[in-house]
Amino acid sequence: MIGFHHHLVPIPNSGREHNIIEDAGETLDIILRNNVPLVLMGHRHVPYAVKIHNTLLVNAGTFSCNRTRAHFGNTFNIIDFKNNTIIITVIDIDKGTQQKMVKYNPLEGWYINRYYDEKKRID
Ligand SMILES: [Fe+2]
Repeated sequence: MIGFHHHLVPIPNSGREHNIIEDAGETLDIILRNNVPLVLMGHRHVPYAVKIHNTLLVNAGTFSCNRTRAHFGNTFNIIDFKNNTIIITVIDIDKGTQQKMVKYNPLEGWYINRYYDEKKRID
């Protein structure tokens, strides 16, 4: 696992792109070539996750900052590791709700991302 304060890929619904890490392309290439299973990112204040090659890239929302983006409000992610599976749950602080967003099993290769496929149940 690797963690960055900033983001390695552009994050949807976070406004015009800037402040992506320097040399993001080369950094992403090294990560993908080494099959890093999980990359944690932030700075853009929008919860998001996407898998590229064998790597799950996860962006955090913002816990308490009032500079929220789009309609996501204040959120944080819970990351669980169960039975070789990475599970990302987004907690909405304002609504008091939680939703499992992503499940990814790097060993078996299966991946469900509710961000892109809302109809799939993953809990
Ligand atoms: Fe930041």
